[in-house]
Amino acid sequence: MGFNRKDLLGIRDLEVSEIEHILELAQSLKEINMRAIKKVPTLRGKTVIHLFYEPSTRTRTSFDIAAKRLSADTYSIAGSTSSMVKGETLLDTLKNLEAMRPDVFVVRHSASGAPHMLARNTEASVINAGDGMHEHPSQALLDMLTIIEHKKRLDGLKVVIVGDIFHSRVARSNIWGLTKMGAKVTVCGPTTLIPPKIELMGAQVGYKLDECIADADVIMVLRLQKERQQQMLLPSLREYSTYFGINPQKLTKARPDVLIMHPGPINRGVEISPEVADGPYSVILDQVTNGVAVRMALLYLLAQR
Ligand code: CP
Repeated sequence: MGFNRKDLLGIRDLEVSEIEHILELAQSLKEINMRAIKKVPTLRGKTVIHLFYEPSTRTRTSFDIAAKRLSADTYSIAGSTSSMVKGETLLDTLKNLEAMRPDVFVVRHSASGAPHMLARNTEASVINAGDGMHEHPSQALLDMLTIIEHKKRLDGLKVVIVGDIFHSRVARSNIWGLTKMGAKVTVCGPTTLIPPKIELMGAQVGYKLDECIADADVIMVLRLQKERQQQMLLPSLREYSTYFGINPQKLTKARPDVLIMHPGPINRGVEISPEVADGPYSVILDQVTNGVAVRMALLYLLAQR
């Protein structure tokens, strides 16, 4: 089975065969990014609109690079410079942009479900580039590709996701994806940052970092999302860092071949120390490199429908 959907809205509803198809295609397209001339004509004549209502560096840039390397035309709308500031609704924005006949919308929004609403109201494809605390499917796909490149498999691996699970769409998409692919996922953090009933998604829960990471093949460190912490969920950043910040001393408890991942952006010295972020176990920049290949694969599959 290939991938015959109109939209990519989340990992939760994907079949294992669809995830495998996307990752295999991304692996084959990655070679284009190593060429001197990094461009192929595959999506010539196709139009991609990036609709970003939240800040982004990696996702937005890599979707744009991915589209351009496939020769699509791209346009970017930022919430702060769009007619949203004059009161235009998201649906009206969509309908007006759709009248210009784009092929794909890449959407980031603070409201969970916003890309789903857009997908129901347009003939164009919609890719969820992160919606609220819900899903960030392209991030999970690039994370899976990065793990496979280094560990040659996902099945049977122990992946520990550390930190602010509650606010993390990256954690949710990775839990759905990694468990489908046979990995054992443990989430680890302070009780206030672990969502209730997260076990129902297939993850185990731990509250002591050294116990969680003892036999982990992969440690996925999450950004502490200060912008989403309206309630006082933590006594202080210093206390969070003391108990859950990943530093070289904490890593002495981990396997010698552990992979350190982080979706970015990093709060250096809070959830991860610079020595670990830049150290020998880190594959953080490999994740960024793979982001372009995964997003090329997604655009290729959706824009060519
Ligand atoms: N990982 C991620 O989504 O990063 P950006 O917010 O910079 O896109």
